[in-house]
Amino acid sequence: MTDSLTLDDYARLLGGRQALQDLLGVGPSALSNYVKRGTIPVKKRALLDKAVSQNSHKQPPLSQNHISEAPICLLIITGGIAAYKALDLARRMQDAGYQVRGVMTKSAEEFITPLSLSALTGEAVYTELFSLTDEQEMGHIRLAREADLVLVAPATGNFIAKLALGLADDLASTLCLASTAPLYLVPAMNPVMWAHEATQANCATLRARGAVQIGPVSGDTACGEIGSGRMSDVVDIVAAVKAHHHGSEQASLNRKALAGLSVLLTAGPTEEPIDGVRFISNRSSGKQGYAIAEACQKLGAEVTLISGPTALPCPKGVARIDVQTARQMHEATLAQLPTDIAICTAAVADWHVRGAGHKKVKKEANAAPPQLDLVENPDILKAICAAAHRPPLVIGFAAETDNPLDAARAKRRRKGCDWLLVNHITEAAPVFGADDNQLTLMTDHDEISWPRSSKQQLADRLASEIAAYFETESLPS
Ligand code: C5P
Repeated sequence: MTDSLTLDDYARLLGGRQALQDLLGVGPSALSNYVKRGTIPVKKRALLDKAVSQNSHKQPPLSQNHISEAPICLLIITGGIAAYKALDLARRMQDAGYQVRGVMTKSAEEFITPLSLSALTGEAVYTELFSLTDEQEMGHIRLAREADLVLVAPATGNFIAKLALGLADDLASTLCLASTAPLYLVPAMNPVMWAHEATQANCATLRARGAVQIGPVSGDTACGEIGSGRMSDVVDIVAAVKAHHHGSEQASLNRKALAGLSVLLTAGPTEEPIDGVRFISNRSSGKQGYAIAEACQKLGAEVTLISGPTALPCPKGVARIDVQTARQMHEATLAQLPTDIAICTAAVADWHVRGAGHKKVKKEANAAPPQLDLVENPDILKAICAAAHRPPLVIGFAAETDNPLDAARAKRRRKGCDWLLVNHITEAAPVFGADDNQLTLMTDHDEISWPRSSKQQLADRLASEIAAYFETESLPS
């Protein structure tokens, strides 16, 4: 009966966008996605129809509730010299398809005027928490709730500290506390302030809560010091927000985006016996691989995890096959083909010991240490790429310390995989065993650096990218 109703109609009948979100139990991004796709999922439509029929005796509210097709980006500008770049950012975000609503802190007004931002966004710019005009026009809670994403650029050290503490002493910080939308932080400050333990700890806290950090980058800063602290370039900020937000929108839009697809995943280290009690291995906790298995399973994929020895529990709904050596992993993995996707995260030992037996080699007094005769292990990733039933999407990982990007480019060619994710290993930010990570995704067309985030967030992002890839791949040309 209500097949022809649009989301605008439902919003008008049911009391606005927020009422729809509450009724459907979805966030603003999902609602925007329904609009973008022009479809409302069947089960959600049934809920809306039920509410409309229950409300039909009531007077429909006057329409103030047009749902814009563009997702709303709440752009919060805080007071740093990089604030002037935020004007260009506002424009580029609109070019990228976002509706930008500007919010400025008092100190941002020392650098740019609300009028210039308003001229660029075509909307009012909000600056005051206790402003009668602003509250009448758009209450601060509505401002927070309607946002599909919150982008703080530049984010000063002071503002980052306030967010980490959960302070709400001005409009900008109150909005961050009142919003459940994804938060993107673009730090920009003097290199010493950036390197300070307090700032680093605050950023780590915010990332652990799910905030996505973009930059900063190294280079000249306004204060004349050279080092890390410069705001990322506007194009990079837009690309990072778009890629991540698209990923999370897709994930929220379709929780089963990988339904019907099979994923074969290797994870953890391998152990190569020297004798019955000793072995050679690689450093790997398996955390990133297990997180990816879980993320793909959550999106509906049928996941088989070929795992070397780890202390991790098997993610729910994932079929795990335990192996010890590279040769066992090789055999178990190839036996699972064909699959739709193969992801090799395992840190496979490069060599095994020829003739290793079960008996413990005795350490004799005054005897020379035994010589190990090492034999190269099979390269599982390469073998999958060369297999007769090569999966349509094969993904490898690389962990390099020297010239990681150059080495990874060569590795992608050598192994023949479609995507390669490069771990950035530095002394300051080790990957092994850590809960967060930084990755660069290399494909035939792109090299995209994903901001440092938790291994779980990176796994979710990879799963969303895979879903987007298969969605595009299956479109008729
Ligand atoms: O050669 P390297 O170990 O640096 O390559 C890393 C990538 O290759 C990872 O995806 C890893 O899982 C995979 N690999 C493999 N079999 C090997 C060695 C590495 O599948 N023997």
